[in-house]
Amino acid sequence: MDIIQARERAEELRRIIEEHNYHYYVLDQPMITDQEYDALMQELILLEDRFPELVTPDSPTQRVGGKPLEAFGTVRHRAPLLSLDNAFGDGDLRDFARRVESALGQPVAYMVEPKIDGLSVALTYENGLFATGATRGDGETGEDVTQNLKTVPTVPLRLREPLPRLEVRGEAYMSKEAFRRLNEIREERGEALFANPRNAAAGSLRQLDPRVTASRSLSVLVYEVLSVEGKEVASHAQALNLLVEQGFAVEPNRRLCRDIEEVVAFCREWTERRDELPYEIDGMVVKVNDLRQQAELGARSKSPRWAIAYKFPAQQAVTVLEDIFVRVGRTGVLTPNAVLRPVRLAGTTVSRATLHNEDIIREKDVRIGDTVVVQKAGEIIPEVVEVLKERRTGGERPFKMPETCPECGSAVARPEGEAASRCTGGLVCPAQVREAIIHFVSRDAMNIEGLGPAVVAQLLDAGLIHDAADLYYLRYDDLVKLERMGAQSSRNLLDAIEASKQNSLAQLIFALGIRHVGSRAARVVADHFHTMGRLQEADFDELVTVPDIGPKIAESIRSFFKEEHNRQVLDKLAAAGVNMTAGEVPTGAQPMAGKRFVLTGTLEGMTRQEAQSRIEALGGQVAGSVSKQTDYVVVGANPGSKYDKARALIESNAAPGLSILTEEELMAMLEKY
Ligand code: IVH
Repeated sequence: MDIIQARERAEELRRIIEEHNYHYYVLDQPMITDQEYDALMQELILLEDRFPELVTPDSPTQRVGGKPLEAFGTVRHRAPLLSLDNAFGDGDLRDFARRVESALGQPVAYMVEPKIDGLSVALTYENGLFATGATRGDGETGEDVTQNLKTVPTVPLRLREPLPRLEVRGEAYMSKEAFRRLNEIREERGEALFANPRNAAAGSLRQLDPRVTASRSLSVLVYEVLSVEGKEVASHAQALNLLVEQGFAVEPNRRLCRDIEEVVAFCREWTERRDELPYEIDGMVVKVNDLRQQAELGARSKSPRWAIAYKFPAQQAVTVLEDIFVRVGRTGVLTPNAVLRPVRLAGTTVSRATLHNEDIIREKDVRIGDTVVVQKAGEIIPEVVEVLKERRTGGERPFKMPETCPECGSAVARPEGEAASRCTGGLVCPAQVREAIIHFVSRDAMNIEGLGPAVVAQLLDAGLIHDAADLYYLRYDDLVKLERMGAQSSRNLLDAIEASKQNSLAQLIFALGIRHVGSRAARVVADHFHTMGRLQEADFDELVTVPDIGPKIAESIRSFFKEEHNRQVLDKLAAAGVNMTAGEVPTGAQPMAGKRFVLTGTLEGMTRQEAQSRIEALGGQVAGSVSKQTDYVVVGANPGSKYDKARALIESNAAPGLSILTEEELMAMLEKY
């Protein structure tokens, strides 16, 4: 490569990297993985090393971190917030200890703490009150996110003692569970998903509206006293204890180690245990404990000499992709999966990985027989990151998405603009039926213990169930005959099924597996409609008035209930005694049970809400729109199109059971009971 080509490439790389920086730091919506980003950066660094005359002051290699958002105020840190050097193995840890101990001329004790994968924040307290909170920014200047940090419950607004001044540093992060829930909501709303908890935390903290931050379940764990007035601390361990005493959250899994061998052992232990924690950690931080020793060691320009970050081994491995098979999910989506030659990865043996969809396979040019890099991100199933094309022998075969469903033979369709291919078989597809039932019994849904995927498959194969409602009609004699189902487990399973009848309406709605209706949307509609019947009757316009229910969810709920089969399943569930109500369950006599009312126009003697509650208290249902199933349309002043529709139905004899009531007639009816 000559200098002209090098200059062109360097300029191109800078443009691309800046674009990704913008997406990552400003928009919080990365378009590429960290590995891909690192590769671009590495290429630029190498290029600039080889041709130093190409280095420009604005090259992304010349700055650390992202620009503060202009919309936030900036905070100049009193002293620069340093970063840490990395150690990639036991050898690097021992080298670090040798440097430290030879500089100090004596043995040293180290504090070792999990390294939380979030974003660094600096908090300042004045006279015991939370005064300023800032992001790290470029280390010198950060963004003022005080108002947002005030919404984080683990940030104390007042210290236990009115210390004149305290500056601390910690990590703002999102727990794995909060991250999962946030993405679930975003999926329901059709919004872009966050790639990992760290990006979600950054996106949530850098919100101009603190209410959004407040809704995002952020946490802060603090790990460093930058300065303190009014207290003496001699060691890092004491500093952390001080923080605990003042009301901060401090990572509990820290250990004071007497020498570097203890440090090595502790780091190894957490390499295995990292998945146990409710938040993601990407390594361990090792710090010289004695603060005088820290001061003596001092710092380089960007990082202290008294600390190092032990990075866990990459959760990546290289293996051969032996085959690709297609799995059919609950909604009929076909997901290609890789069969891998078994390989050790982050403490487990991996033999499967997801390939997501056809486009991704094409983009990465994955072929059967390829040597690939697989990676485990958090607890999610491993994925194929890239193909090592230089290892190809010529015998590799490209993958083609099947044109018919591998489970039921129905046609596979891929709608315009969608990445997913779907089986069009619906209920004739045994895979979709099976997955729907597995979802129905899962933990956040009906939570039926003892009913794992294998038992569901057994019950289907034996013809004992055909849909989820059939579970409530299983008998002891059916179960006990199944393989690996003894008397005790059969009884336990029946008990668990019985107990699930009392589950909340929200759980049941979620369990139905209506597309785009996650557990949150299910809760919202359960709270709003109170009964399955009312949800079933709600029309599109009524559904979209419910907070957080958009047109996509509303449409999906409508089409679910339009499906004859789904209504039958619901009838079977209701007949089995599965709970279909939320909140106050009417207990008195139910003379209006099964009667469906529609209200239109303005009522004079009571509000619509009152009318509705009184009808429901007597067992009736109030729906949003008129249909052949409606029994009564109550007409107030200035009625709308519902009245016209009711008259048309009556006039054409389409709804023999339908009558029109005035407000007085309704009152008379209510009073009768
Ligand atoms: S100490 C000068 N302790 O890791 C000391 N950092 O790569 C600076 N981090 O920017 C940091 N947990 O955001 C320290 N227990 C911990 C930490 C921790 C997470 C982050 C922090 C820092 C980055 C360094």
